[in-house]
Amino acid sequence: MGFPNDFLWGGSISAAQVEGGWNEGGRSPVQIDYAASSPANKLRMIHYRNADGSRGTVPVFSHIPKGATYELFDDIHYTNHVASDFYHHYKDDIAMFAEMGFTTFNTSISWARIYPYGVEGGVNQEGVEFYHNVFKECQKYNIDPVITLYKYDEPVYFEQKFGAWQSRQMIDEFVAFASLCFEEYKEYVNKWMTFNEINIGLMCRSFHNISHTTQVQEKYTEIHYQIVAAARCVKIAHEMDRNIQVGCMVAGYCVYPLTSDPKDVMLSYKTFQDNFAYCGDAMMRGEYPTFSKRMWEEDHITLDISQQDQIDMLEGKADFLGFSYYMSSCMTTHDEGEKGNGNMMMGTKNPYLKYSDWGWAMDPTGFKYFLHVLNDRYNKPLFDVENGLGAYDQVTSEDQIHDSYRIDYLRDHIQAMKEAVEEGVDLFGYTTWGCIDLVSASTGQNDKRYGFIYVDMNDKGEGSLKRLKKDSFYWYKKVIASNGEDLD
Ligand code: BG6
Repeated sequence: MGFPNDFLWGGSISAAQVEGGWNEGGRSPVQIDYAASSPANKLRMIHYRNADGSRGTVPVFSHIPKGATYELFDDIHYTNHVASDFYHHYKDDIAMFAEMGFTTFNTSISWARIYPYGVEGGVNQEGVEFYHNVFKECQKYNIDPVITLYKYDEPVYFEQKFGAWQSRQMIDEFVAFASLCFEEYKEYVNKWMTFNEINIGLMCRSFHNISHTTQVQEKYTEIHYQIVAAARCVKIAHEMDRNIQVGCMVAGYCVYPLTSDPKDVMLSYKTFQDNFAYCGDAMMRGEYPTFSKRMWEEDHITLDISQQDQIDMLEGKADFLGFSYYMSSCMTTHDEGEKGNGNMMMGTKNPYLKYSDWGWAMDPTGFKYFLHVLNDRYNKPLFDVENGLGAYDQVTSEDQIHDSYRIDYLRDHIQAMKEAVEEGVDLFGYTTWGCIDLVSASTGQNDKRYGFIYVDMNDKGEGSLKRLKKDSFYWYKKVIASNGEDLD
């Protein structure tokens, strides 16, 4: 009973949200470098300059208009530029992860540090060295990392050159980047994930208010090219060494019908198909599911799927399913229920659940349910890459942070996960999101904190970047030491 002895415990962060050093070490800019932060559940915007000299904004993950240019403005504080400054603090930070007993660690490699201007611009050796140093630190403490290749941070160079993921050319660029990483870091890393939350473009439609056919078409096109690129990476990695495991990563959440009206039940299942299983199936089963046809018709989509794409997808099925889980949501066809927010999506509030300061439902039972759904559907190893509570933390005059709310959230979720594992779910690891405080993806805030380690930096850019251990730091250390038995 309990977790298997080799279960991986750790934490997860991402390059653009934690590193800072945005213009150091030969890194080129990525879109998020131009994003302002926003208050809870308001859209985070990119500010740019129009050809006529006026300023404009678009939500993050959208394209700026033709003829417009990315520009930094003095009246905006760009939180991702410094973030938590992991770029300069990584040795101390990894030492603290080791002190908690991490046996794994997930971060992403910044594409813009490795190939700042695409293959054409050549490899940036300083960037390559940076990750050598990061992985060497992990090895020093016997931390077995699981590394993500792409987390929303391709160089803006690609957008300017050929429209980034709207072009098939991006597949070759990504495969070149991934192949370099597999080869370069094979001494330290044998578990990889290709695209973080590859489904987010479809999932965030309600949150980002994307309904125009052109925008929806763009999301599908981007996802298709990413699915093909991922499949080709799996094949290449296996050809290099069959022991390299390459998983996919899909944003997960549990969807319930708000009422027992069969129409609500159908709608909630359809939401699961559209938001999760469309991408999950394509990557885990190697082909688009039968219901894709219904989605393409409903959304008036045509996709450039070649015969070779289909062969690559079948031959490059992911070795494991990585996923995030923070919350659940309800769907209804009725005009009732309070509107709720969530991880880049909207839904209806569940009267049986409590909500975080950012309006995300806290639902450990949903986590257990979701683990079973994934296990039954894919029958392949699972890895929970992200789970955690974003909250405001208070530092006492003795530099302590009493984050009992975070401990409560994580305890309940680990307990649910343990039950699922005991009931047969094949889960090989768990990394909590934002194990050290970092910049929020949806709002760009520093003050939305997930970490066991507090970073002294606020939304306005005020702070010393000093690290402090929260109460949850000592609690998680006990959890790991007891392999998930001691949750008190
Ligand atoms: C996940 C993303 O969806 O949610 C992370 O992969 C993100 O990058 C996390 O940070 C939490 O969301 P947020 O908006 O609170 O940062």
